[in-house]
Amino acid sequence: MPPKREYDDARAVGTPAVSADDDQMTTFSLHSFGDSDDDNHGFSIQIIENMREEYGMFVWPCSVVLAEYVWQQRSRFSGTSVIELGAGTSLPGLVAAKVGADVTLTDESKRVEVGGLILFVLENIRSVCDLNKLSCKVMGLTWGIWDAQIFDLHPQILLGADVLYDTSAFDDLFSTVAFLLQSNPGSVFITTYHNRSGHHLIEFLMVKWGLKCIKLLDAFSFMPSGKASGLGGNIQLAEIVLVG
Ligand SMILES: C[S@@+](CC[C@H](N)C(=O)[O-])C[C@H]1O[C@@H](n2cnc3c(N)ncnc32)[C@H](O)[C@@H]1O
Repeated sequence: MPPKREYDDARAVGTPAVSADDDQMTTFSLHSFGDSDDDNHGFSIQIIENMREEYGMFVWPCSVVLAEYVWQQRSRFSGTSVIELGAGTSLPGLVAAKVGADVTLTDESKRVEVGGLILFVLENIRSVCDLNKLSCKVMGLTWGIWDAQIFDLHPQILLGADVLYDTSAFDDLFSTVAFLLQSNPGSVFITTYHNRSGHHLIEFLMVKWGLKCIKLLDAFSFMPSGKASGLGGNIQLAEIVLVG
């Protein structure tokens, strides 16, 4: 398990929780996109979070940034096949589904014991889809593991919010990304990450796996001021494709 983060610093804050269950530490956060006064375009997504659980049960700030980018680029997403890796609470993928993409939400499937974390993450993803009346596919996908079902995935756009946080997992992540990009020529991996010391490793692994960055944005360059003020850290968005 990667090192635990300082939640107070790193967690994203949506609209304040609308309810909480003391026993389960379960909260609901609301995330709005577009002009809420314009019924034809704006919408909100409700997310179930759990304060006691690990990484996959929070809406991390990178997820808020990537979801906003999907919303701003919605015409590009409509009608496309999208896979979100390490989806956790799945906000970017849910926004993609809302604007008309065919979405598969994935998270780690390695540990599936009853009552264990990972099963819970996948179940939470299904609950969040139901809550928002969105019919996304949900499947276990562990980076660097080649289960039969990964060969059936043909994404045009891959999403990954805050999946570059544990350097020991970078190589597995990039191997999966490279495989999925190869399976669909012209596809792209769009990821948001905290700009930390792993930057050189990211560059090294992109070369190793035949990938290149075609777009690099600072989150603050496109986030609406209302959302940007709630973000800590230095978050970047990268669009990555196969070389050649
Ligand atoms: C920091 S959380 C980010 C969750 C969500 N994308 C967000 O930004 O709110 C990292 C996510 O990656 C998943 N993950 C970690 N290692 C993984 C692996 N080896 N294979 C697949 N998913 C993994 C975790 O379960 C978790 O959901």
